[in-house]
Amino acid sequence: MSEIKTIGVLTSGGDAPGMNAAIRAVVRSGISSGLKVKGIYRGFMGLIEGDICEMKTMSVSDIVQKGGTILYTSRCKEMMTPEGPKMAADVCRREGIDGIVVIGGDGSFRGAQKLSEQGIKTIGIPGTIDLDIDCTEYTIGFDTACNTAMEAIDKVRDTSASHERCSIIEVMGRTAGHIALWCGISNGSEYILIPERHTKDDEQNIINKIKAKRRIGKKHHIIVNAEGVGDSYAMARRIEEATGIETRATIIGHIQRGGNPTCRDRVYASSMGALAVDLLLQGKTSRVVAYRGGEFCDFDIDEALSMKKDIDEHLFGLTMRLSR
Ligand code: F6P
Repeated sequence: MSEIKTIGVLTSGGDAPGMNAAIRAVVRSGISSGLKVKGIYRGFMGLIEGDICEMKTMSVSDIVQKGGTILYTSRCKEMMTPEGPKMAADVCRREGIDGIVVIGGDGSFRGAQKLSEQGIKTIGIPGTIDLDIDCTEYTIGFDTACNTAMEAIDKVRDTSASHERCSIIEVMGRTAGHIALWCGISNGSEYILIPERHTKDDEQNIINKIKAKRRIGKKHHIIVNAEGVGDSYAMARRIEEATGIETRATIIGHIQRGGNPTCRDRVYASSMGALAVDLLLQGKTSRVVAYRGGEFCDFDIDEALSMKKDIDEHLFGLTMRLSR
């Protein structure tokens, strides 16, 4: 028999479409394994403040298809102080919570790591539209965010083509260019700007490329810029000045964080939620659920946090090759 009787689930950091599917999977697979499941509101902040409520099967009815997170979320600086994790662990003990599933990005995993150091069993599930967690090839929300951005860029392309303009489209990713990279290919962009490969020559390269493409008859231009690279509006002004071609900037912004999750996000998030519960039932702690090489697996949380994700070289090379 597992020593785990009650588990908690929380979402933390930026929300991501598919988090609700993961919450539902944790609650339902927990209950079907005989566990009591508690929902913790507003991430670690709600845990420290004891904002907790027992969840039943029907608490997660009608949410698998919804974006956002029914548990709300926050970025909680207190978890990085010496007191925060102690307070959170005290609340867990008071509430009888033996293990917690934390759905979020690497910042949230750091909180989970601190909580596990206080003796509470923790399992992380990668939930971020940014895909910036190295141990896993999939993070909840990335697929939906890419599809949202791709559809938005298709629409910008229509008007860009009608007006024979250059369009700079900014997608999310302060430190990660994965959305920009995938959109660069799926939207057939002429150039992508990503933090991982950004150089001071990027802008001049774009200007040269636009001029060269005009000479061979191209009438409009799509440039995808990842949020972290720089001000898209200012860049549009400089490119217009240098090329003489009308240039507009569009920032897609938080639209990418919302909306109904794609089929992939619903299915993978559900699998990860159920696996997180299984790991707790096996008595495991300080683990991160991951997807690698076609299989769901788990990693030690310290190891997961020490790994640094880079851009997929093949995809990056492909963008450059196809945009010639
Ligand atoms: O959750 C990830 C992310 O959407 C990043 O892509 C983006 O840089 C950041 O969060 C935006 O955060 P906020 O919602 O706090 O503005």
